[in-house]
Amino acid sequence: MVEKVLEKMETERGFIQIPSKSRQQLIGNLSLPSRTFLNGFPARLDKYGRLWSSFLKNKFPISARVEISKTGNGFLVELAKSEGAGATELLEEERVETLSEKALSIEDEPYFKADSIRIYNEDFLKTAAIKESSIDLVVTSPPYNVDVQYENYKDDIPYSEYLVFTKEWLTKCYTLIKDDGRLCLNIPLDKNKGGQQSVCADITTIAKKVGWKYHATIIWNEQNISRRTAWGSWLSASAPFVIAPVEAIVVLYKESWQKTSGSQKSDITRNEFLEWTNGVWNFSGESRNKIGHPAPFPVELPKRCIKLFSFVGDTVLDPFLGSGTTLIACAETNRMGIGIEINKNYCELAKKRLEKHGAIYQRKLMQEGNAWARQSTI
Ligand SMILES: C[S@@+](CC[C@H](N)C(=O)[O-])C[C@H]1O[C@@H](n2cnc3c(N)ncnc32)[C@H](O)[C@@H]1O
Repeated sequence: MVEKVLEKMETERGFIQIPSKSRQQLIGNLSLPSRTFLNGFPARLDKYGRLWSSFLKNKFPISARVEISKTGNGFLVELAKSEGAGATELLEEERVETLSEKALSIEDEPYFKADSIRIYNEDFLKTAAIKESSIDLVVTSPPYNVDVQYENYKDDIPYSEYLVFTKEWLTKCYTLIKDDGRLCLNIPLDKNKGGQQSVCADITTIAKKVGWKYHATIIWNEQNISRRTAWGSWLSASAPFVIAPVEAIVVLYKESWQKTSGSQKSDITRNEFLEWTNGVWNFSGESRNKIGHPAPFPVELPKRCIKLFSFVGDTVLDPFLGSGTTLIACAETNRMGIGIEINKNYCELAKKRLEKHGAIYQRKLMQEGNAWARQSTI
C-alpha cells in the first residue's frame, strides 16, 4: 500500500500520479499505457504512470491523503484512515462545476462563449482546448469526402487519405471522452460519387480499431428522394445503381455502456424514449440555403442523441461544428457544449444562430438563482 496527498489538478482531472518511488511496487514491469480497473471502475495507466478514471474526478477533496493498493484486477484507492470523517462529508456534498472546471484544459481564447457554450475556431486535430477524459458525449457529422464545397476544407481527397484523417480524429475523440462516454457519429451509409465505397462500414471498423466499442446503428431516413440522381443502366441489369436515401448514426462508447458519471438526471419523455429507441428515425434533412452552410444536419438529430444518450448537465462536444447545430441542441437541453470549427465564417454563422435562437438567454433567465448559472462566471 502506498500513501500520497492529492493535488488540485489530480482531483479535478480525475487521475493519480503514482509516485516514482512507488512505481515498481504498484506498476512493476507492466508495459504502459495499459487498461486496468480502479475500485471496480474502468481505468487506464498512461505512459507517465498516471492512473486515470472518471471515478476519481472530484471524488476526493484537494489535498486529501489517499491509500493506493494493488488488487487482483487493478487498484484500490481509499481515503487514508488518518483523514477522518470530515473529509468523507466533503465528498458527499453535491458540487456543481462550470464548463471551465469540467472540460476546458486551458483558457484558450474561444471564438464565442456564452453561459455554458464555447466555440473554438481551430483545427480539431490541433486544438489543446479540451481536457482529456472530460467529455460525456460526442455528437458530430464529419466531412463526408463527397466534394461538398466547404470554404477552406477540401472535401475531395483520395479515399485512403480520408480514412487516415478519420482515424486521427476518432483517436483524438477517444482521448477526450470519459470512460463511460459515448459517440454518435452521423455518416453516410455509402458513397457513389467518385467510385462506390462502403463508408459506414469502413469508418465503424476504424473506430473499433482505435478502441471504440460498438453499440448500435440508427438509420436516419431523411426522406430525401432528390438524392436519387443516377440510375446507372436504366431498366437493364447490366449496371444499375442502388442508392439508399438514408444516413447512419453509429453509436459507440469508450469503456462501459453503463453511464455512471454525471447528474443521473434524464429529461427524455416516455413517448420520446419509445419512439427514439426504435432505430429507424424519420425526419427531414436541413436546408443548406436556409442555414447558409453546405452540409448542416437538423437540430432534431443532435437533440435526440443528447436526450437519449446523456444526462442533464453533461458536456457534449462537436469536433466538426459547421453551422453550430449541436450547440443549439445543447442550449435547448441544458447540456454544456463545446464546438470546434476550422472555418471562421462558419464559426460566425454558428454564433449568430445561437444568438438568434435565444435559447442561451432564455436559459439564463430561467436559471437565475440556480447554482449552476451562478457559478458559470467564465
Ligand atoms: C458536415 S459539416 C458539419 C455540419 C454541422 N453538423 C452542421 O449542422 O452545420 C463538417 C464541418 O467540419 C469542418 N471541418 C473540416 N475539417 C475540420 C477540422 N480539421 N477541424 C474542425 N473542423 C473541420 C468543415 O468546415 C465543416 O463545416
